[in-house]
Amino acid sequence: MKIVKKREDRVANGEADSFGNDFLGLLVNAYHDLDEKNRLSLEELVDECKTFYLAGQETVNSLLAWTVFLLAIHGDWQEKARREVIDIFGNQTPDTNGLAKLKIMSMILNETLRLYGLSNGLMRKVGREVQLGKIVLPANIDLLPLNVAVHHDPQLWGDDVHLFKPERFAEGIAEATKCNAGAFFPFGLGPRSCVGMSFATTETKIALSMILQRYSFTLSPAYVHSPVAAITVQPKHGIQIILESLNNDV
Ligand code: HEM
Repeated sequence: MKIVKKREDRVANGEADSFGNDFLGLLVNAYHDLDEKNRLSLEELVDECKTFYLAGQETVNSLLAWTVFLLAIHGDWQEKARREVIDIFGNQTPDTNGLAKLKIMSMILNETLRLYGLSNGLMRKVGREVQLGKIVLPANIDLLPLNVAVHHDPQLWGDDVHLFKPERFAEGIAEATKCNAGAFFPFGLGPRSCVGMSFATTETKIALSMILQRYSFTLSPAYVHSPVAAITVQPKHGIQIILESLNNDV
């Protein structure tokens, strides 16, 4: 609310002529909408900020952390990822065109999301009686589809389900899931799926590319594997990584 107040003060003092056109600026504009029907209440504005902070911060942190962990213990994939990054960007800062070409990295991120994606499932309420395949779901029940269960189901992924094998995604998600959209949904499914999906993958690809350009890394012997489910899957004791500078001129 302090940040919002600051924006309002700048407009009131004549220091700025709008609340800004970033995401917060759009929300503050909606809070000041002259049309009452479109106006956001203060509570709604704060709720939106909380949603974006929670939905956007810890999720990407977790994806980046587990990806670094998996690449630290699978040096062959780390090397493949680095080769791809250097082929595409050299020592330059990652750019939009190049990000779209990171195929190996996309495979690695999908496999990380499969193994260490969100854990607690996505609550859904059944609005009216509906038939799903052979199951009849009565109205007004809550459903908790657990993506962690589906992502770790050997019937869908094979006996090597618990292994890190990015090659599963070599021909894309449709091929990896045999066109079964319900087999892999790290960003949810349907009209309420994650609005930040592209932003999240872009952010992660940029950060990971910049790490791979500069460092090779291995897992510290101090690391203790203890993933805990807390919406995202979190490493209970952190992830200790040993970075070695590649002395690249980046
Ligand atoms: C790796 C990163 C991320 C993962 C795994 C993730 C995953 C998800 C999932 C599973 C949902 C629920 C979808 C559903 O109910 O079907 C969701 C919703 C949402 N996510 Fe993300 N997310 C990530 C990053 C982000 C980022 C970076 C932002 C914002 C900048 C964001 C904003 C949101 C919002 C606002 C919703 C609620 C959408 C709605 O209810 O209409 N997410 N996300």
